[in-house]
Amino acid sequence: MKSGILLGWILPAILALVQRQGAAQTFNNPVVYEDFADNDVSLGPDGAYYFSASNMHFSPGAPILRSYDLVNWEMIGHSVPSLDFGEKYNLTNGRSYRGGTWASTMRYRASNKLWYWVGCVDFWYTYIYTAESPEGPWTRGAVLPGGTCYYDCGLLIDEDDSMYVVYGATDVKMAQLSDDGLSERRSEALFSASDIGLDGIEGNRLYKRDGFYYILNDHPGTSTYIWKSESPWGPYESKPLVENVASPIAGGGSPHQGSLIEATTGDWYYMSFTWAYPAGRIPVLAPITWGEDGYPIFVSDEAGGWGVTYPMPHEAHPLGEWTGTDTFEGTKLGVDWEWNHNPDESKYSVKDGLTLFTATVTEDLYAARNTLTHRTHGEFANGTIEVDFTDMADGDYFGIAAFRDRTAFIGVFRDGDAYFMRTVHGLTQDEETWETVDVGTVVEEAEILDKKIWLRASLDVRASGSKEATFHYSLDGERFRQFGTEPYIMGTNWAIFMGYRFGIFNFATKELGGSVRVVAFTSS
Ligand SMILES: *[C@@H]1O[C@H](CO)[C@@H](O)[C@H](O)[C@H]1NC(C)=O
Ligand SMILES: *[C@@H]1O[C@H](CO)[C@@H](O)[C@H](O)[C@H]1NC(C)=O
Repeated sequence: MKSGILLGWILPAILALVQRQGAAQTFNNPVVYEDFADNDVSLGPDGAYYFSASNMHFSPGAPILRSYDLVNWEMIGHSVPSLDFGEKYNLTNGRSYRGGTWASTMRYRASNKLWYWVGCVDFWYTYIYTAESPEGPWTRGAVLPGGTCYYDCGLLIDEDDSMYVVYGATDVKMAQLSDDGLSERRSEALFSASDIGLDGIEGNRLYKRDGFYYILNDHPGTSTYIWKSESPWGPYESKPLVENVASPIAGGGSPHQGSLIEATTGDWYYMSFTWAYPAGRIPVLAPITWGEDGYPIFVSDEAGGWGVTYPMPHEAHPLGEWTGTDTFEGTKLGVDWEWNHNPDESKYSVKDGLTLFTATVTEDLYAARNTLTHRTHGEFANGTIEVDFTDMADGDYFGIAAFRDRTAFIGVFRDGDAYFMRTVHGLTQDEETWETVDVGTVVEEAEILDKKIWLRASLDVRASGSKEATFHYSLDGERFRQFGTEPYIMGTNWAIFMGYRFGIFNFATKELGGSVRVVAFTSS
């Protein structure tokens, strides 16, 4: 009986596994075709790799990914449970587009078994969060005095347990933290961009290898530099690591900011990102080697670019799919969901679907609270919602948007006893104040009689692509029709930093009280 199972089922399964691993001896860039910028990747005590990223004005903040092979990644949580940095992060008094979490750092400290996340918010306050597990719960450990901004920071826990943070824009500084890692003991200037003839430098990370301290940073948009010293306090000497290399993604920018990773195999890698709007800033991985002079050397492809294909760092360790259908089971949202600013927690519930109560009376999607967002995946990304809107109130507006500072959506608006499906283009924010300069124009409208609908945003997010967003609906979940003849052309400006996302919204234009039930969301 047992050997029958072995021959009949287990043996073929083992052979298939061996074949799969044979096929997966190389990997392709990008490692994740999603918007995960400013990575800080480090090894955890469990032998897994942890990737901390920026998500600006989306809440919860500072997403965390995990991998066992540096190539297959899964989202596991966030370091900043809520952007509780003031009212404007609630969209109740002002707005914080492009604020929030960016270019922060996350490391494990063995001596007290705590993870630390450090980041500067609003160019003024440095927050420190800690957790016993990267999956959380994360709690705020400290806020440093106003004006102490660890801009684009990198944390190193030294062999003697000292905690150093390198930071700064153009002028790079080093701070040493107190023994508990929750306050600053000392901070000193190290060097400036002008020392190597540059007009700017940022994206700082700190490493130690063979007794030397290394600072990794970059000239925005073009090149990566590595600085080496015998002491954390300098003096440092630099060499370029990557200069203006071709992106592995068509139309993408030169990868230049990110982190160095020492794999458990002893090999080293550089995880950076390529600018590729409308999709966002997409992580790409490459091996590095070390020269006899103790400086790292980037491993390019034959043409000198960032390779599309490299050997796998480890045996492949596949994780769950990035795409699929969420039917909102249980009572909490999955870790892949992030709100636009902090939500009003009393205005949504997860139970047999997602119920979104209207949370703001406005005509302006950018001012509405409780827009729930989801990253797009891949070159062509579809986001589809199935919605029951029986409980919608007069004047309410729900839908799914291609959401950014240049936005379009398909939605349903209730006007008295009539319900209108609309495709709306051209919602626009000012790129400095983030005030709304255009609430959008209806490009197609039709009355609908059902109280159940499927709405879809279909995006070509390739940097080299059409950048078209089209909108579709279905009354049976099977046959979809495009609504709005002309596609909307998505913006590619970097000003708001984050790439396009699906934004599921429900706001009131008359008064609060109505709701819709999102039965399912499918990312495909
Ligand atoms: C932001 O909203 C949360 C939850 O709705 C609330 O607890 C908090 O006090 C608000 N913060 C500010 C500064 O208004
Ligand atoms: C995306 O949506 C379009 C428009 O409805 C459809 O033609 C296409 O098959 C969809 N693709 C995927 C992968 O869902």
